[in-house]
Amino acid sequence: MEIKITHTTTPKAKPTDEDNLSFGKYYTDHMFLMNYDEGQGWHDPRIVPYGPIPLDPAAMCLHYGQEVFEGLKAYRRADGKIQLFRPDKNMARLNVSNDRLCIPKIDEAFAVEAVKKLVEVDKDWVPHKDGTSLYIRPFIFAVDAHVGVHPAHHLIFCIILSPVGAYYPEGLAPVKIYVEQNYVRAVRGGMGFTKTAGNYAASLKAQDEAEKQGYTQVLWLDGVERKYIEEVGTMNVFFAFENEIVTPALQGSILSGITRMSSIEMLRDMGYTVNERKLGIEEVFEAAAKGTLKEVFGTGTAAVISPVGQLKWGDKVIEINNGEIGEISQKLYDNLTGIQWGKIPDKFNWTVAID
Ligand code: COI
Repeated sequence: MEIKITHTTTPKAKPTDEDNLSFGKYYTDHMFLMNYDEGQGWHDPRIVPYGPIPLDPAAMCLHYGQEVFEGLKAYRRADGKIQLFRPDKNMARLNVSNDRLCIPKIDEAFAVEAVKKLVEVDKDWVPHKDGTSLYIRPFIFAVDAHVGVHPAHHLIFCIILSPVGAYYPEGLAPVKIYVEQNYVRAVRGGMGFTKTAGNYAASLKAQDEAEKQGYTQVLWLDGVERKYIEEVGTMNVFFAFENEIVTPALQGSILSGITRMSSIEMLRDMGYTVNERKLGIEEVFEAAAKGTLKEVFGTGTAAVISPVGQLKWGDKVIEINNGEIGEISQKLYDNLTGIQWGKIPDKFNWTVAID
């Protein structure tokens, strides 16, 4: 399929202060659109000026949340060239989400091509400053005008772009996390492993309460026993003990993060023992008391590598690595972002050039 391009005639001013881009504040001049209609399949791929999308008030996405999304980034290398990080993994995961939400599968290679074309059209929007990037948000939503519950027959696939800085105001400084005890995010058999709007809607109340208590995000426990660690609001989570680094195993309720996957591969390559297993919150607090919990960090496309400096569970509070970034988190951050920003050779073959 050929992607038709219509350039904007009214380009916007780009943000000039790249030190204060924050996250999700600015959007570029163009977006990608493609429609799905039953009987016709995915069709009419196009890049058009960024702008509102007309929706019938009865559109199914507005009522039943049949929506999936992805998040990846384009990085400007020191030599000026632009590259993506493992975009094939995002599109493969999008199809995993599609399957769970009865959304017709997309052609993954074509979707990567669509991302590359769109980034190329808006390449001047990829910021230059250290630590900045162009966040890419592909998403699919159901547009049938029908207030009855069934899988949609008509959908839109859209990709938008946003120049961003750090997701957390803390940057690489350790964040404070609160262990959620009242609410749960997902259960096995539900949709926790997908990237769908409902999972994030389910997290808002807990997130809001955590913020009111001075915490950046919440750490979710399993929805059944409320004992085992799952993930943090917008990232997967790793615990470095004396002899192993542990991240919760993917058991159907946790998002399979691309940064999680890359961090596991990279940490093993750096010589660490990384185990994906069940991890009780009690084990973490006991290790902290014994002095064998060395570091905690989150991983995510938006969050990158985010050290955790404090964990609160009920009335127990632990300080991790004296609230400072640890050696493993720092090395992982340097190696991962080194590849993403093209500062060190990509021996894993993870990056994909745009031009
Ligand atoms: C990402 O890291 O890309 C995410 O999707 C997190 C997001 C909800 C901000």
